[in-house]
Amino acid sequence: MTHRIPTRSFRPRLVVTGVALTASALLLAGCSGGSATGGDSTSAPDGGSKGTIGVILPETATSARWEAFDKPFLEEALAKEGYTADIQNAQGDVQKFSSLADGMIAKQVDALIIASPNPEVGVSVEQKATAAGIPTIDYDRLNPGGTADYYVSFDNVEVGRLQGQALADALADKPGAQVIQIEGAPDENNAVLFHEGQMDVLQPLYDDGTLTLVRDQFILGWDNQLGGTTFEQILTSNGGKVDGVVAANDGMAGAVITVLQKNGLNGTVPVTGQDATLAGLQAILRGDQTMTVFKAIKKQAEATAKLAAIAASGDVSAADEYASSTTIDPKTNREIKSVLLDPSVVDKSSVKDVVDEGYVTAAELCTADLAAICESEGIK
Ligand code: BGC
Repeated sequence: MTHRIPTRSFRPRLVVTGVALTASALLLAGCSGGSATGGDSTSAPDGGSKGTIGVILPETATSARWEAFDKPFLEEALAKEGYTADIQNAQGDVQKFSSLADGMIAKQVDALIIASPNPEVGVSVEQKATAAGIPTIDYDRLNPGGTADYYVSFDNVEVGRLQGQALADALADKPGAQVIQIEGAPDENNAVLFHEGQMDVLQPLYDDGTLTLVRDQFILGWDNQLGGTTFEQILTSNGGKVDGVVAANDGMAGAVITVLQKNGLNGTVPVTGQDATLAGLQAILRGDQTMTVFKAIKKQAEATAKLAAIAASGDVSAADEYASSTTIDPKTNREIKSVLLDPSVVDKSSVKDVVDEGYVTAAELCTADLAAICESEGIK
């Protein structure tokens, strides 16, 4: 079966804004007729920047990654490509996400990078950006059914496999161990992929009785707090019994660990995580969390910035060449040019690597209660 890839082009700025904006754009460019050259956004008035690239991040409450890693790394990487970064966070508010995007589209950013709170709003933003000729990149989260030109993320099924395998390994000597799975948002593409990867490993083990699934629960909006209360209810209704927990990310893991602590179970029940956040790494050092999945967000940000800069320059074939992987849109079967990076496992013995890579500092990680363990793990 072959899919036809429509020929794409990113139209030069001033030509694309539709009737209403064209008039004001011409005014801004000081033009009375059709001779506008303002489409060349590389000639910024201050001479220092090639233009502006807009970034909209989804939330802060679902994971510390967005503000702690994505924002600064994207800012740095876009600056390195010569662009001014306009980075906003929608704080989980779909309306806000939409209006931030409208503002960026109206001001004709040179490219738009989005990680949307849900695919519905992601798709609607992409359609508007595409109609305005603005190259759009799905950052980390794919919006199925959308029109993004590119997708930059990780092998997210592999993320789930790493989580599933780590839990299976931790429970290897507990036949029939009882497992609770606390997942991400049911409508978020990555959450579905993480779950798929976990089940690749765990389903056969549930099927043959090696492990016992107590409950497998998606959590609306990746709400970490709701993840904690949901876990508590499941635990209570299972008579307080749990041997292992799949937590989809470090935020969920933190909420689960709080409940385990209340029940005197932390440190004995393996818990997975993801994002290598400061709190997640500290929980690993304390022995409350078994692992996290490290995703090289710095590399992700650099690849995204590079791709956005190439696309902003209008060179579609160079951008297509750079995004050399392909992802199939699960809704439409459209092929999306992608950059996909590999995730890896971090456990107690490799927390040090995350520090060495510059994601967190030893000073912030090694609080007084963790000083001794940091020392023995060689974290400085
Ligand atoms: C990201 C994860 C993050 C989660 C919640 C997912 O789309 O890939 O890294 O933990 O969203 O924000």
